[in-house]
Amino acid sequence: MQKDSSIYVAGHTGMVGSALVRLLKKKGYINIITRSREDLDLLDQKAVQEFFATQNPEYVFMAAGKQGGIYANTTYRADFIYENTMMQANVIHQSFLSEVRKLLFFACSCIYPKICTQPMREEDILGGHLEPTNEPFALAKLTGMKMCEAYNRQYGTDFMSLIPTNIYGPTTRYANMNSLVVPSLIRRIHKAKETGSSKVELWGSGKPSRDFLFVDDLAKASLFLMEEYGGTVGLNIGTGKEYSIAELAGTIKKVIGFEGEIYYNSTYPDGVDHKLQDTSKINSLGWSAKTDLESGIKQTYKNYLDLLKQGHLSAI
Ligand SMILES: NC(=O)c1ccc[n+]([C@@H]2O[C@H](COP(=O)([O-])OP(=O)(O)OC[C@H]3O[C@@H](n4cnc5c(N)ncnc54)[C@H](OP(=O)(O)O)[C@@H]3O)[C@@H](O)[C@H]2O)c1
Repeated sequence: MQKDSSIYVAGHTGMVGSALVRLLKKKGYINIITRSREDLDLLDQKAVQEFFATQNPEYVFMAAGKQGGIYANTTYRADFIYENTMMQANVIHQSFLSEVRKLLFFACSCIYPKICTQPMREEDILGGHLEPTNEPFALAKLTGMKMCEAYNRQYGTDFMSLIPTNIYGPTTRYANMNSLVVPSLIRRIHKAKETGSSKVELWGSGKPSRDFLFVDDLAKASLFLMEEYGGTVGLNIGTGKEYSIAELAGTIKKVIGFEGEIYYNSTYPDGVDHKLQDTSKINSLGWSAKTDLESGIKQTYKNYLDLLKQGHLSAI
């Protein structure tokens, strides 16, 4: 990749896409192509075709997608499978037709079987049934990853895919029912502090553990692969460390300075106990996560306060 290579970041307004744009600019890349959804709806095959034919990007980061927590995944099952499948098919196929040099697609750890030996290794994919709550989303992501693999094998393209764990960091997605675990906890604990509540109730026991990767670390890994490697299809990415939901909530509580109680309502079900990806492959390539949970949460909360101050989010 040259500093003046044309690089299309699809989904640049999202958490991952915006981190990629920040990093590319910081590293001195000067030819970054972005389009808002209003200017280019990635569901529109013809529009995507015209965009690639006129812009001819050399490198593509496919960070656009429909993303959400359990509520959204369970409620909008058709939208999740349709929109993700269409967007990625349009971008991957047009990238092939316009001879993009390298493409990086973001899959998701939900593509692993519901019951899987921990830590989950890349070889375990498609070894069992998916978690039913987000099966439509997971099937779309599996399709995207397999599309990259199939185009590489049939046409000799260099389309890579990453399987990120839970990502958190600066984002604008704090909407009530659709947000992911970190934004949701930040919003609720911040609200409790501001309104003087003595308690925040969380569903489940707080015991299940997950890996949380700061989005700037994901952006660095993505650029590292784009610059240095090729042909890496389906590579796990995470910190390799687990935190329970209670530890995560405790860290957020500390960073926000909330002095009340976090109450775990165990009458609500927990998800799977452990979910940790084996990151030894990406580590052996020379990349590892650098941001610890507390400093990542501090940066995320600072961004949340900035957005509130600037009026980009509705007040608490
Ligand atoms: N966040 C995670 O924990 C995580 C974990 C693993 C994998 N991933 C994957 O990484 C990718 C990026 O995630 P994210 O967290 O950055 O998601 P995000 O914050 O929700 O951003 C999604 C991006 O996709 C764009 N988009 C959605 N539909 C579009 C359409 N029809 N046309 C054009 N653009 C469209 C959004 O544009 P608007 O701003 O207009 O909505 C936004 O820029 C996704 O594919 C996600 O599945 C995320």
